[in-house]
Amino acid sequence: MAQRIGILTGGGDAPGLNAVIRGIVVNGISSGYEVWGFIDGWAGVLNANAKQLTLDDVEDIHRQGGTIIGTSRTPIFPKEGKGNPDRSDEAVASLKKLGIHALIVIGGDDTQGEADRLFKDKRFPHVVGVPKTIDNDLRATDYTFGFNTAVEIAAQALDRLHTTAKSHHRVLVVEIMGRHAGWMALEAGMAGGAHIILTPEVKFDMNEVYGVIKERYDNGKGYTIIAVAEGAEGIEESGGSEETDAFGNVKLGGVCETLEKLIQDWLVENMEKPYPEFKFEARSVRLGHLQRGGAPTAYDRILGTRLGVQAMELVKSETWGHMVSLQGTEIKAVKLEEAVGGYKLVPDSRYEEAKIFQGL
Ligand code: F6P
Repeated sequence: MAQRIGILTGGGDAPGLNAVIRGIVVNGISSGYEVWGFIDGWAGVLNANAKQLTLDDVEDIHRQGGTIIGTSRTPIFPKEGKGNPDRSDEAVASLKKLGIHALIVIGGDDTQGEADRLFKDKRFPHVVGVPKTIDNDLRATDYTFGFNTAVEIAAQALDRLHTTAKSHHRVLVVEIMGRHAGWMALEAGMAGGAHIILTPEVKFDMNEVYGVIKERYDNGKGYTIIAVAEGAEGIEESGGSEETDAFGNVKLGGVCETLEKLIQDWLVENMEKPYPEFKFEARSVRLGHLQRGGAPTAYDRILGTRLGVQAMELVKSETWGHMVSLQGTEIKAVKLEEAVGGYKLVPDSRYEEAKIFQGL
């Protein structure tokens, strides 16, 4: 009888997830396995809610955004400070009930954390991981799929905002996703010609921001584009709410509106009008989930496909407790524990490299 492989997608969706699913299913079925998709991440495991995936189900899906098996932010192990119950017994019972031989877990830090704990727990050690996040902040892999697409979307948004900001001589603050790391703000900001880039790694100083805006106006470049990561810090009120998800992550979003207000007030108070009717204005745009939606770029389709194919190879070679990862141009296996429990942040050198274009 064919061995049954379970797969799940957990955490925020990322363009390229369907390419991974297709890679696993095509490689799995060609090698004589059955592949079952758990619906909505770990929630599907807890509820023994899974369906068999056929070649027809995955035909051409590498070109589609989202995930055909759904996702959620559902933990199975207790989280510090959350008081959620340990539901790993239910998860293991359901994997056994469905006759799952191995589980391929596609997700970011939180999801892979659950996978690593399940592997180490020994009750169900046949676990393999696939790294995913548009934030590109997962350790032990050079890039995650979804990041390239999200950067492309944000860079295109910046391109469009240049023309309108320039016409109205406005300051435009564009908020880009990135909870712990500023990879997206940095790369989209570089590609989209942002004059100021603010990331979570480097606490920003409003006086420096005002200085760049003033210098641009003084030099006759009457507009400024600011790319700010949602997790950037430097002002008291950074937006977002106290609300946390099941993994304890706070809900971010809103730093751009706060910056808009501060900059608007500062412009009015500190800048001299070029003519009496002139209005100094700041506006903001929060890109939000636009960055996660839609079709993946060719790069993410290929990276996702390769990771899916290679994850299935780890199952075949019984390389449990490992995650496929991109290292240079090669896909290699790394221990799950190397990926979790911290973040891959933007190094100072990358920030400094981008900073020489600040204000230009
Ligand atoms: O982790 C990816 C991500 O898109 C972050 O950039 C963002 O902070 C978060 O997910 C948003 O999550 P949700 O869609 O659950 O609000």
